[in-house]
Amino acid sequence: MSPFGCWSLPMTLLTLLCCPGSEKAFEVYTQPEKLAVETMGSQKVNCSTSCPQPKMGGLETMLTKTLLDQQLQWKLYLISNVSEDTVLYCHFNCSGEQKMKGLPVSVYKLPKKVSLKLQPTWVTVGKSFTIECSVLGVEPLENLTIFLFHGKEALHNQTFGRTTPAPQEVMATLNSTAHRDDSLHNFSCQAQLDLRSRGGDIFYNISEPQVLEIHEPMQDSWMVIIITVVLILLFLFVTSILFCFAFSQHWYKNRTGNYGVRAAWRRLQAFRPQPA
Ligand SMILES: *[C@@H]1O[C@H](CO)[C@@H](O)[C@H](O)[C@H]1NC(C)=O
Ligand SMILES: *[C@@H]1O[C@H](CO)[C@@H](O)[C@H](O)[C@H]1NC(C)=O
Ligand SMILES: *[C@@H]1O[C@H](CO)[C@@H](O)[C@H](O)[C@H]1NC(C)=O
Ligand SMILES: *[C@@H]1O[C@H](CO)[C@@H](O)[C@H](O)[C@H]1NC(C)=O
Ligand SMILES: *[C@@H]1O[C@H](CO)[C@@H](O)[C@H](O)[C@H]1NC(C)=O
Ligand SMILES: *[C@@H]1O[C@H](CO)[C@@H](O)[C@H](O)[C@H]1NC(C)=O
Ligand SMILES: *[C@@H]1O[C@H](CO)[C@@H](O)[C@H](O)[C@H]1NC(C)=O
Ligand SMILES: *[C@@H]1O[C@H](CO)[C@@H](O)[C@H](O)[C@H]1NC(C)=O
Repeated sequence: MSPFGCWSLPMTLLTLLCCPGSEKAFEVYTQPEKLAVETMGSQKVNCSTSCPQPKMGGLETMLTKTLLDQQLQWKLYLISNVSEDTVLYCHFNCSGEQKMKGLPVSVYKLPKKVSLKLQPTWVTVGKSFTIECSVLGVEPLENLTIFLFHGKEALHNQTFGRTTPAPQEVMATLNSTAHRDDSLHNFSCQAQLDLRSRGGDIFYNISEPQVLEIHEPMQDSWMVIIITVVLILLFLFVTSILFCFAFSQHWYKNRTGNYGVRAAWRRLQAFRPQPA
């Protein structure tokens, strides 16, 4: 039931019974004029009037309210356990006339989790990769902006329209091409909830930084050169080992061959007729 419903009857009665126009003009104020409250949170509201001698007055709401303090021209309340957007009504009677002022209340949920993913995390220069950021549990989505950063440079921003019910998780994605110096700065993602138009603040949460590993094709050719040189050196080494081995075998054979010659010579000497 709208709180206006509660008041329209007495107001109509007032208009009928009294003679409006004869009363002095007075105003009703709320402080703040708009209110942003975290879900299930609480906030103070000051309901006041310019009427010098106000009669009955106060705050009309379905929410849990506690009167903290009051004086003749104002009442300070704590409203608590706010679970959804609503409107509070501050009202005062002055010389038989009643006035009220609406105070819009918005509930919000701060970004609980902001995470950034690079896909893949290891890219060759000139090849494409995807930056993907997910933000969990934010409300209202219309006031959320997701920024994708590379170092201090904002690469991309994404906003969201009103959807009911608000999804638990929203994403911002950007396809990019890998540059040689992309690994010099980290990638990060920032969720910004701007509640200034609703009487709140501006809140931020940021993801862990992510490093993109850049693979340069140049490194490939260097690798090829290094591997070739290593292979050539290895080949020379193995060849020289084989050569030494063959040479030493040859030398050994020659030596045993010498012994054979000597033995034959000795044998020949043995058969030689001894001089008398
Ligand atoms: C409430 O508002 C009135 C009018 O602006 C002001 O005079 C009064 O001091 C306020 N009370 C508190 C507790 O802020
Ligand atoms: C807060 O509100 C919820 C529903 O909106 C209710 O179930 C709960 O009992 C309330 N808690 C207090 C402390 O008022
Ligand atoms: C104040 O407003 C109430 C309705 O809420 C009305 O019944 C009452 O007559 C008003 N009082 C004065 C003094 O005007
Ligand atoms: C920001 O996000 C981190 C996780 O991504 C979370 O632990 C932290 O509580 C969040 N901060 C706020 C103020 O919600
Ligand atoms: C926040 O949302 C409200 C309601 O949709 C809209 O009027 C306002 O412009 C938004 N503010 C920002 C800063 O996004
Ligand atoms: C968001 O990006 C657009 C271009 O895509 C740019 O014009 C705009 O200024 C950016 N908004 C913010 C708040 O940086
Ligand atoms: C990024 O590229 C993939 C394919 O590689 C495509 O499916 C996706 O829609 C692109 N996203 C954006 C935001 O351009
Ligand atoms: C990137 O982030 C890592 C931690 O993830 C950090 O150690 C490193 O210093 C950062 N590099 C730059 C350039 O900020």
